[in-house]
Amino acid sequence: MKAIAVTPRTQNSARLIDAPTPALHEHGALVHVIRCGICGTDAEINQGLYGEAPRGSDYLILGHENLGRVEQVGASVRAVKPGDLVVATVRRPDDCHNCSHGESDMCLKGDYSERGIKGLHGYLAEYYLEVPEYLIPVPPELVDVAVLLEPLTIVEKGLWQAYKIQERLMWEPRTAVVFGAGTVGLLAALALRAKGLTVAVVALSPRGTLNSQIAEAAGAQYFSTQDISIDDLPKKLGRIDVIFEATGSSLVAMKTLEILGVNGISILSSVTGGNKTVQFPADVVNQRMVLGNMVAFGTVNANRRYFDMGVGSLAQFQKLWPGLLMRFVTRRVPLADFTIEVLEDRNGVKTTIEISKE
Ligand code: BGC
Repeated sequence: MKAIAVTPRTQNSARLIDAPTPALHEHGALVHVIRCGICGTDAEINQGLYGEAPRGSDYLILGHENLGRVEQVGASVRAVKPGDLVVATVRRPDDCHNCSHGESDMCLKGDYSERGIKGLHGYLAEYYLEVPEYLIPVPPELVDVAVLLEPLTIVEKGLWQAYKIQERLMWEPRTAVVFGAGTVGLLAALALRAKGLTVAVVALSPRGTLNSQIAEAAGAQYFSTQDISIDDLPKKLGRIDVIFEATGSSLVAMKTLEILGVNGISILSSVTGGNKTVQFPADVVNQRMVLGNMVAFGTVNANRRYFDMGVGSLAQFQKLWPGLLMRFVTRRVPLADFTIEVLEDRNGVKTTIEISKE
């Protein structure tokens, strides 16, 4: 079968390869991939900054944002059947306490693996094999947009945990700021709007881009940092109760602590490679956090619970804003036309690799 693979830790090694089609076994489902989304993590792996091949392999098949259709199932499989649309989760457990209890996203040892990222082949291939435990069935009416489910799980987990943490007080959040207007940022904006919050999306690009139009179509305000300084946001918006940080910049992540409102919570979701060092107003931030009862927490996706929740949210977003999720996919590239440039394309919102017909 055709697949897109890299030689991990080697810059610009992404290429189309011929790989063996996985062989079905009694407990597995063979899935024909429909499409995969490309994200910053795929680009980082291609840049040689991240990623690990499966043991015994000198290449790693990329791809973790996925949608496919079950083609065949093993004799003992009941939970999915041929023809079902499915999205597969990404992380696989090690033997730590949390992983053994279905919470591999809360892994204690760090020996987890991730399909398409760390130690396991991904989904940017014509086929993959998986056990039903990691396959999320998706209703047919979401076929157009279900490739957004995996990035949405980052938002689902972040918000679910934020609300859980805030059970520590009487909390009626009104205003949220989302930093970053990429796929995760925009999905966070939709999720927060769906909860009825006033939402401001803050990002680098000027107003008028598709990203800002998507934010505004969901009833969020859009601010470019070319027009407003982050420090001025509380003056403009009043008390900020929730921040969702999805820019990929650790500087912005730290900055959230300087503008978060009293009793507020900052959800940090950027996986930042590198080792940037900055001067930081430690006294001021610490005092604000203590006197203001603030919380900042990191969140990495995601176990099955958040995928299941995400299916419900996709359907809700489709109802609230018909057609809006479709606008996220700004470039579709057939598998055979793949070139490295596709991984580095920063225009638009989401690029997908189209592998088979819906
Ligand atoms: C993926 C996550 C993964 C993280 C770190 C993200 O792009 O969506 O599943 O845990 O990268 O590897």
